[in-house]
Amino acid sequence: MKNRFSLNILPWILIICLSTDALQQQALAHPLFTKSRWIVNKDGKRVKLACVNWPSHLQPVLAEGLSWQPVDVISSRIRSMGFNCVRLTWPLALVNNQTIASMTVENSFNSLGLHKSLAGIRANNGKFLRMTLPQAFKKVVSSLEKNKVMVVLDNHITTPGWCCSENDGSGFFGDKDFDSKLWIQGLNRMATMFKGTKNVIGMSLRNELRGKNSNVDVWYRYMQEGAEVVHAANPNVLVILSGLEFDKDLSFLRNKQVNVSFTRKLVFEGHWYGFSDNENWVKNNANDFCGSFMNNMMNKFGFLLEQGYPVFLSEFGQDQRGGNVNDNRYFSCILGVIADLDMDWALWTLQGDYYLREGKQGPEEVYGVMSLDWGSVRNASFLQRVRAVQPPFQGPGVSGGKQHNIIFHTASGLCVEDSLRLHSCYETPAWSYSPQRNIILEGTDFCLQPLGLGLPVDFGIGLNCSESNSNWEIISNSGLHLSSKLPNGETVCLDVDKNGILVTNQCRCLSKDSNCDPTSQWFKIVKATTKSTVRG
Ligand SMILES: *[C@@H]1O[C@H](CO)[C@@H](O)[C@H](O)[C@H]1NC(C)=O
Ligand SMILES: *[C@@H]1O[C@H](CO)[C@@H](O)[C@H](O)[C@H]1NC(C)=O
Ligand SMILES: *[C@@H]1O[C@H](CO)[C@@H](O)[C@H](O)[C@H]1NC(C)=O
Ligand SMILES: *[C@@H]1O[C@H](CO)[C@@H](O)[C@H](O)[C@H]1NC(C)=O
Repeated sequence: MKNRFSLNILPWILIICLSTDALQQQALAHPLFTKSRWIVNKDGKRVKLACVNWPSHLQPVLAEGLSWQPVDVISSRIRSMGFNCVRLTWPLALVNNQTIASMTVENSFNSLGLHKSLAGIRANNGKFLRMTLPQAFKKVVSSLEKNKVMVVLDNHITTPGWCCSENDGSGFFGDKDFDSKLWIQGLNRMATMFKGTKNVIGMSLRNELRGKNSNVDVWYRYMQEGAEVVHAANPNVLVILSGLEFDKDLSFLRNKQVNVSFTRKLVFEGHWYGFSDNENWVKNNANDFCGSFMNNMMNKFGFLLEQGYPVFLSEFGQDQRGGNVNDNRYFSCILGVIADLDMDWALWTLQGDYYLREGKQGPEEVYGVMSLDWGSVRNASFLQRVRAVQPPFQGPGVSGGKQHNIIFHTASGLCVEDSLRLHSCYETPAWSYSPQRNIILEGTDFCLQPLGLGLPVDFGIGLNCSESNSNWEIISNSGLHLSSKLPNGETVCLDVDKNGILVTNQCRCLSKDSNCDPTSQWFKIVKATTKSTVRG
């Protein structure tokens, strides 16, 4: 067995600093524009949306959690968890229904019998009680502004309540509770209300269009009209258009583009969950299904990136308790996609619970990053994975170095370090994946080599990198396994042991087998132009 190189004999290593400063500076950039598939500030520099959803569209029409924590504590926690933006949801009734628009927070909670939540709001956010619901909504936006958090206003539903189901009468233009005129009126009022509010950088026009009335021609008619109305009322916001089939489908844009009078403001959004594909992640082999999911997502909306539009993955997420295998496999796969495409996104979701959801008081939200009582992070290892994709890897102004790669392990949210362990992606060396399929540590002539089954990988040097075991193929339908051949001809896959040390093992369930979990062997070689610093 070769000796492992210790760090102190490695010369010049390029370390990439995905610094949180960059995210901080982005926070107050306003207004934002689009530049082909990227969202940029007025200087043309990329601003990556790394958002979390914060619902304010349920029956009480108040942003969740204010019974648990002061609003500024929640906003600053959003910031400290690394999110630079919130997708803040609202119902049309907030501005269209005079009864609701003039109701105080106290009356809203009293009328719904939410006495426990009301006591919590009195204790933590007493000033909110006498505010009307629109005033309270604005107060939440300004608390986010104070904490340098951008806001995308998302029209989630018409009448306050839980969203969304196929037949809830709120799925598509013309449904019982979805009048296109009232929708236009609501968008207009909301856009006007937040004109000049610095941190409101985008408006998404309607969440998850769906149901039997869905129709592509009607989609163009009203989406274009809504976009024009929002832009006219508030030309500073990005106008974000969602698709059909619960926001999974924008494939019709392949044949016909949206026709609006303005430029540099149009963004598309898509949603995808584990359950969007029913139980297919557990019923199928994880590599096979990850591959077909990726094709499907690219065909449904990912292709818009290639057409030169930003795609905002504005809902994705998982049951963070770890016991939902369908969700676990999906999330490891989609996290690789997000890193690879370096998408703008909004995680579902922030809230640990709801004041009132579907008739129940205080139900838990196991997809929420906050714990049930909003007092801590629900699952730190989950948050670590999400944090890995918060900073931009590429795009206008995200540079300083030439293009290189980082090697992202989706199950942990960590990256491959020069000590050949997993380590934070915020400080990771530059690698290159060469045409000869060598994995080379930039600035050196070291290449990754397997030593044997179950053994740590090591660096080969110089000429040794032309040995066949230095070739790493990207295999399986997921494209997430890196495999090499040992000198004895045996095929192995890159893996990590329980201490986070890179090893090679037998490749796990590359295809067909649905019972085994290959995700410890899932690595994505991601393109990055992030600024590199040199460690001597
Ligand atoms: C306005 O909201 C109130 C209170 O929720 C409700 O009773 C009423 O039906 C709503 N009006 C319309 C026109 O939807
Ligand atoms: C786009 O809309 C404008 C204004 O309504 C119209 O004049 C023009 O013909 C449309 N273009 C296309 C390609 O439909
Ligand atoms: C956090 O997520 C991990 C991985 O999915 C899981 O194993 C763990 O049990 C979860 N922890 C908590 C506290 O839910
Ligand atoms: C290259 O490999 C040979 C045979 O395994 C070994 O003897 C030699 O020391 C290696 N050279 C370098 C520079 O690692």
